[in-house]
Formats: sequence, structure tokens, C-alpha cells
Amino acid sequence: MWGPEGLDEVEAELLGPPEELKGRDVLELGAGAAQCSRWLAAQGARPVALDISHRQLQHALRIGGPFPLVCADAGALPFADGSFDLACSAYGALPFVADPRLVLREVRRVLRPGGRLVFSVTHPIRWAFPDEPGPEGLSVSGSYFDRTPYVEQDEEGRAVYVEHHRTLGDRVRDVVASGFRLVDLVEPEWPGWNTSEWGGWSPLRGNLIPGTAIFVCVRD
Ligand SMILES: C[S@@+](CC[C@H](N)C(=O)[O-])C[C@H]1O[C@@H](n2cnc3c(N)ncnc32)[C@H](O)[C@@H]1O
Repeated sequence: MWGPEGLDEVEAELLGPPEELKGRDVLELGAGAAQCSRWLAAQGARPVALDISHRQLQHALRIGGPFPLVCADAGALPFADGSFDLACSAYGALPFVADPRLVLREVRRVLRPGGRLVFSVTHPIRWAFPDEPGPEGLSVSGSYFDRTPYVEQDEEGRAVYVEHHRTLGDRVRDVVASGFRLVDLVEPEWPGWNTSEWGGWSPLRGNLIPGTAIFVCVRD
């Protein structure tokens, strides 16, 4: 699943035709509980699920799957050059790092020539709106161009959650400057069957403004 709209890889085929996933080495970045790796393994691919959070990987381990789990920072991948055919990430790692080019360059390094990276992030336009599912989430409340990160702190003032904003242009430049060719930018529309509402996500907003941006990048 690429995002809250509900677009899944069976429908989107952004990693290529499902029958060609068989035997492919795939790196999932910011895997969380490794849902994507579980699906990839079911297609016959050989995924590796990577996340910086040990706790998330404990969930992945509890649910299980025939693939390795790796606890590491996406900005310092513990793999040899050219180890993977594909890399993917559904809202993993990239929205949470101050230097996305570091991550993208690392991913490019571990991909084989011709390899593909597909990653989804919150659509940058959402930054300008309150994160509310109702009508209050439809009025611009901040600058789309303000790159100040969103930070939540604990009582001691330590950052416990940080999200970094990049404009759409920033993201395109990050991809290209890291040596990838951008072959598609998918903005999934909110489908009629999806009536769910959670956090800032809702059919009301989904029908009016994009919520997810999916970047399809090739390492030539
Ligand atoms: C919003 S969750 C997405 C999880 C999963 N991809 C999914 O679709 O449910 C973001 C994940 O990125 C991970 N993450 C954040 N920064 C990271 C980094 N620098 N390196 C690797 N993983 C990171 C978090 O630990 C978290 O599991």
C-alpha cells in the first residue's frame, strides 16, 4: 500500500509487473512492521526490511515473514554497492531526515544499474493546511515554502518526533541531484470505495487536494 488513499502495488505496478518481481532483491526502507516486504516475499521477491526503530522491527518479527530485518539508518546503509534490484518505501525514512540526499545517494549506491527506487511521502501541498479531516483542513494556515521542521518534544525538550518539509520542486531536485532519473510522479486520487477517516485523512480532503506523492526513480 503506497498511502492512505489505498493505492496498492497490485494496481499501481510501480515496481514493475508483479511476475517480474520473482527472484528480485528488494530493499524496503523505513519498513515499520514490514507489510511491503511481506507482500514482496509472497510474490517470490527477496526483500530486506530496514528500519531505524528496533521497536518497529519487533512488530515485524512478531508478525513474521521469510526475510531479514535490519536495524539501521537509511542514511548509512550496511550493504555492499550494487546489492539490490529494487528499493521501495511507503512513507518510510525520507520524510523524517534533514538530509534526504544522503539517503537517496545511499540507495543509489546499493542499487544495481537499471535498478528502480519507488518511494511515497506526504504530498508537499499538505504542509500548508491544518492536519484535520474536516472543513477546517481545507483552509491554508501556513506557508508551503516554510521548511521549518515540525517537532514534538518531551518534558526535557528532547525531540521525540520530527518531520521535514520539502516542496515538490525540492523533492524533484533531491532525486535528480542524487543521480536518479525521475520517470514518474504519481498523485493518487481518493477512490470512491475509501470511506475511512483517520488523522488528517478523509474523503472530503482527499477529493479536493492530493495527500500522497509517489516518486518513481531509475538508477541508469
Ligand atoms: C510512517 S512509518 C512507515 C512504516 C511503513 N513503511 C508503513 O507503510 O507502515 C515511517 C518509518 O520510517 C522509519 N524511519 C524514520 N527515520 C528513519 C531512518 N533515518 N532510517 C530508517 N528508517 C527510518 C520509522 O522508524 C518508521 O518505522
